[in-house]
Amino acid sequence: MKIGDIVFDNNLFLAPMAGVSDVGFRTVCAEFGAEGCYSEMLSARAMLYNPSKTVMMTITSNKEKVKIAQIFGHEPDVMVKAIQNPLLDKYDIIDINMGCPAPKIVKNGEGSALMDNILLAKKIIESCVKATKRPVSVKFRLGKDCDKSLEFGRMCQEAGAKYVTLHARTVVQGYSGQANYDSIASLATTLKIPVVGNGDVCDRQSYQRMLSTGASGVMIGRGAQGKPWVFQEILGEPFTGDKIEVVKKHLSILRKYYDEKWLTLYMRKHLLWYSMGSRGGAQERTKIATSQNLDESLQILKELLK
Ligand SMILES: Cc1cc2nc3c(=O)[nH]c(=O)nc-3n(C[C@H](O)[C@H](O)[C@H](O)COP(=O)(O)O)c2cc1C
Repeated sequence: MKIGDIVFDNNLFLAPMAGVSDVGFRTVCAEFGAEGCYSEMLSARAMLYNPSKTVMMTITSNKEKVKIAQIFGHEPDVMVKAIQNPLLDKYDIIDINMGCPAPKIVKNGEGSALMDNILLAKKIIESCVKATKRPVSVKFRLGKDCDKSLEFGRMCQEAGAKYVTLHARTVVQGYSGQANYDSIASLATTLKIPVVGNGDVCDRQSYQRMLSTGASGVMIGRGAQGKPWVFQEILGEPFTGDKIEVVKKHLSILRKYYDEKWLTLYMRKHLLWYSMGSRGGAQERTKIATSQNLDESLQILKELLK
């Protein structure tokens, strides 16, 4: 897959995941083969003021081969200012979120609400494309309660998006049911720009199913939680390394930027995901979920992963 001057080799993308895809997680995923790494979604409005939380979310590492900043908003002029923010200078691609189903986003006419406001969605994409030399892409769902992906994808293409990503579920579906791979196949056949398929890829088998849709790229979200090596496994190379070393690396990167108190709470979910492959250990997991000491949690996790 080639997007402007950017050449992808394996066409694997780590999904944007708010509250999950921190710089440490992105780095370990990149080391296992995720070529396109998305930031957590960034509020265009917040980017006018650079609050510390947003600034932290824009931190990247040089291990990320293709850095993709995802922004959300509903005001074309604000979106333009956001993508021109120097904090995003290090990013290779600007992605616009038009698929988020979260009520607090939708009620502002942002995220997936833009799928029901196709004229505004087009204006936003056109404005962003005009405002940057970098490729602009769009990530969206099927639609609110029915499949509008062809109409919406055509509009994105016409507006100048260089590729699109389809999470093949409706907003109403949330994360239930199965992603509709037939819709990804139809979109990939219809559009001239590349389509990245997204939804339910978690191993080599589901990856191959996604590839059979004709999608140019494959995006993985939940399948990478606690399992950043999934990218390597998907490419046919089983992971035989030491999982605790991966966890330590993830954490050591975050320790450069965040204080221990915040990290102790933040890392609980990641540590629990990392523990998922191991058997038993209900008591140990409860300890991780409530621990006030990260090194202690790491030690518990190490025992669990043995
Ligand atoms: C915790 C979490 C946070 C997410 N945050 C975002 C986000 O910030 N932007 C976005 O476009 N999608 C977001 N998503 C959706 C994912 O990018 C992806 O589309 C979805 O999880 C389906 O892919 P999967 O089946 O591989 O997980 C999020 C999903 C999860 C589980």
